[in-house]
Amino acid sequence: MDFTNLLAERTELMKANAIREILKVVAKPGIISLAGGIPSPESFPMDLFHELSRRVMEKYQSAAFQYDLTEGFIPLREQLSLLLAGRKIEAGPEDIHVTSGSQGALDAVGKLLISKGDKIAMESPTYLGAISAFNPYEPRYVSMETDDHGLIPESLEQTLKTHRIKLIYLVPTFQNPTGRTLPMERRIRIAELLKKYDALLVEDDPYSALRYDGEPVPAVKTMAPDHVIYVSTLSKIFAPGLRIGFYAAPEFLSRWLVLVKQGVDLHTSTFNQALAAQYLEGGYLENHLPKIIKLYRPRQQAMLNALETGMPREFTCSPSQGGMFLWVSGPENFDAMTLYEKAVEKGVAFVPGRFFYTDPSQGHETMRLNYTMADEATIETAVEKLGAAAREIIG
Ligand SMILES: Cc1ncc(COP(=O)(O)O)c(C=O)c1O
Repeated sequence: MDFTNLLAERTELMKANAIREILKVVAKPGIISLAGGIPSPESFPMDLFHELSRRVMEKYQSAAFQYDLTEGFIPLREQLSLLLAGRKIEAGPEDIHVTSGSQGALDAVGKLLISKGDKIAMESPTYLGAISAFNPYEPRYVSMETDDHGLIPESLEQTLKTHRIKLIYLVPTFQNPTGRTLPMERRIRIAELLKKYDALLVEDDPYSALRYDGEPVPAVKTMAPDHVIYVSTLSKIFAPGLRIGFYAAPEFLSRWLVLVKQGVDLHTSTFNQALAAQYLEGGYLENHLPKIIKLYRPRQQAMLNALETGMPREFTCSPSQGGMFLWVSGPENFDAMTLYEKAVEKGVAFVPGRFFYTDPSQGHETMRLNYTMADEATIETAVEKLGAAAREIIG
């Protein structure tokens, strides 16, 4: 039977994620991968899971294995409310809903708000997973300009003036793929624009807790709470396999988002939510987060130093004080795809940056480098090889 005829029209937009294809190539032995986008398994609190499970069994008993509220397990939402208070976001447990990863929240937002042809404003480059989440709802994308400090607010204003935008999607802190962070002045300006144009922002914030240097910058949600769906996750500060994401949205949208989730999975795993509740309630995050930072900070520093000394001087790196990625740009007209092929021959892989742009003509000279998955010495070796490959190309 030919199943192609059965596929829905929208399925055509669900392309295989280009990065997954690259990751298949680099799974070969002997390749150092700076291509991944995942936390190091060394960052998981492995020594805690027995204790957390024991506490869950003792405290919640069969309730940890029962169906639960679509909104999320109440003890977890109480803890998430405290976590968000630490980020200066005012949200009571009733305002916070749990999703299966932040990816689950992005999908629900797409399903709730996007009709075929609706326009989503994205910073350029942007997080590929958001495009995968929104694509099945058949939006059009309007890409907005960025520089080393993230979205340029004038580009947002221009976009809001000239297009009917359904929603804006941004990763303001330690963005994936660039590692860039929007400074305070730009956040204030963006919040003003949201109010002025009565616009809705999806603020995706998986990385702000992974800060290795500098002072925290408040979320845009703190500045325009009625205009922002704030989405976050425990994937980078607990364990991604547990799939615990969450959002705090304006109340009207929250109510609808619950109906959407009901139809998808009824609720996120009760047991996993209970584990997460115990992780936060027992003060384990406070204790464990510094260990994650201690693991990643020297890796980021090693990569920054290696780029400084190992890459030809025509290559620049966006400043970054946290997260999991650095963003490197080659000289004008440089083709990072050619560098990718040469680098793989030398045993190093990364993701060419053009995959993160909705406009295929952009980003050919750029690349995303991940530093969470390799130790410092390996990172130094990898960047040295990358530099050698780059020199072979530019002469
Ligand atoms: C910007 C961004 N948003 C969302 C996600 C998805 O995370 P989760 O594991 O919470 O679904 C990621 C994961 O890499 C990400 O980088």
